[in-house]
Amino acid sequence: MRTVKTSPPSFPRVEPNAPFPLPAGQTWQVLCGDAGHWRAGVYSPAAAGREDCPELERHDCPELFLLLSGRLSLLVGRDRQVVELPLEVGRPVLVTAPHAGFCPDGPHTGVALVIERDAFETEYGTWDEQTASQTAVLPARR
Ligand SMILES: [Fe+2]
Repeated sequence: MRTVKTSPPSFPRVEPNAPFPLPAGQTWQVLCGDAGHWRAGVYSPAAAGREDCPELERHDCPELFLLLSGRLSLLVGRDRQVVELPLEVGRPVLVTAPHAGFCPDGPHTGVALVIERDAFETEYGTWDEQTASQTAVLPARR
């Protein structure tokens, strides 16, 4: 497994109080954020099926996914298995488990908004590595 650290500033500057364009055709593009707190991006995987996702990533913070368009399925480690979780428009999902994603209709055909922290660590590993000692930690309720 390998670990990647995301450190502030982890997002580009945008002109506030005005619309700005969404990038298209990229797997991951950070849009904007609030330094030391959160950042938002658009996720549109090139993978078109489970077989295109040999690795899962796991962050040390929760990550919110909300489908914007098309079809996009997450692969989520659960009970030492990897299950498919098709995203639905209008139904956000907070992910704390190891995960990956794919667009069943072809590369970059689904787009999801993602919100995560401005600083966090990501561990990448194979399905076996990520589900062998699975300890998904849910965020504390307030
Ligand atoms: Fe992620």
